[in-house]
Amino acid sequence: MKATAKAHTNIALIKYWGKRNEKLILPTNSSLSLTLDGFYTETTVNFNEELTEDTFSLNGTTITGNQYDRVSKFLQLIRDHAGIPNVYADVHSINHVPTAAGFASSASGFAALAGAATKALNLDISDEELSKITRQGSGSACRSIYGGFAEWQMGEKEDGSDSFAVPIVPPDHWDVRMAAVVLSDTMKDISSRVGMKRTVDTSVFYEGWLSAVPHDLAEIKQGIIVKDFEKVGAIAESNCLKMHATTLGADPPFTYWLDKTMRVMQKVREIRAMGIPAYFTIDAGPNVKVLYLPEYESKIEQILREIPGVSNVTLSKPGQGISYL
Ligand code: DP6
Repeated sequence: MKATAKAHTNIALIKYWGKRNEKLILPTNSSLSLTLDGFYTETTVNFNEELTEDTFSLNGTTITGNQYDRVSKFLQLIRDHAGIPNVYADVHSINHVPTAAGFASSASGFAALAGAATKALNLDISDEELSKITRQGSGSACRSIYGGFAEWQMGEKEDGSDSFAVPIVPPDHWDVRMAAVVLSDTMKDISSRVGMKRTVDTSVFYEGWLSAVPHDLAEIKQGIIVKDFEKVGAIAESNCLKMHATTLGADPPFTYWLDKTMRVMQKVREIRAMGIPAYFTIDAGPNVKVLYLPEYESKIEQILREIPGVSNVTLSKPGQGISYL
C-alpha cells in the first residue's frame, strides 16, 4: 500500500485570512491562488500493517515533535476515512521548496501527503474530495490540488462538506509569472496560523476585511478570465494590503513587514511608473512576491536584484496540479 505524489506550492492573490472552525480548518473568506512550477514536494506514503506508529522523514531527516504530530494527525483522518484506523505508515518527503526561496512549504507538503496517502489506499476520490481532505492539513494546501488559478470556496456548512478548492480556468490558460523576492533576516516569529487567529479574535479592522473580499474575488476572477493583467495585479495588491492592515488593528498589534519589505513594495510602484506592469503580494512573512508578464521578465529580475537588502530572487511560471509518480 504505497504511492508517491508530487504537489506544487501556491501563492494567494486573494488571501485566506481567518478560520471559522479551527479543527476542520474552515475559513471565514474564500480565497484564490496561482500554483507555481519549480517549487514542489514529493511524498511517498507506505502503509504497513506491521508498524505500530507512523514515521516521517523530511529531506532524509527523521522528524519528531510538532511537525510529526501534525503529519500523523492528518494521516489519522485518512485512515479513519478508509476504515483502517490502526494501519500506520512510513512517510518520506522531499521538499523542493528551499527556505532560501522564501516560500512556505505547508501548501505543497500537505497536498502531496494527502495525494500519496489516498492513492496508497486506493481511495477512489474526486479532486473535490481530495481538496477537502487536504484542507484539514493546512488551509492553503487545498488549492495546490490544481494547476494554475484555483479558488477555495469557503462554503457555509458546519461540517465543511462545501469548503474546497476548484480550478477557475484550465491550468495553461495564462502565462503570468511570479518573482519571489527574498529578504535576509526572514525568521518569522508569528506563524500564519497564530497570526490569523489573533486577527480574527482581536482586530478592529477584521470586519472591514471580511466585507471587502467578496468584491475583490468576483473582480479578480473576471480579470483572470479575460486576461486583464492590470486588473488582476491591482486587485491582488490591494487585497494583500487589506489583509496586512488587519494585523495592525490586532491586540497586541503586529506586522509581518520589515523596512526592506516596504522598500520592495515601493520599487514595484516605481517599476509601474516606468510603464512596466508589475504588482506585489505578501504572505505571513516579510518576503515579497511580484506578479509580472513574461515579456518583462529579464528587466524585472534585474531591477529586483539591485534593491538593497534583497538576498535572492527566484522566478516561477504557473505550475501543474497534483501528479502521481
Ligand atoms: C497568508 O494555510 O498556512 O499565506 O490553515 O493554519 O495551515 P493553516 O494556514 P496556512 O495560511 C496561509 C495564509 C496566507 C494566505 C493564503 O495562502 O491564502
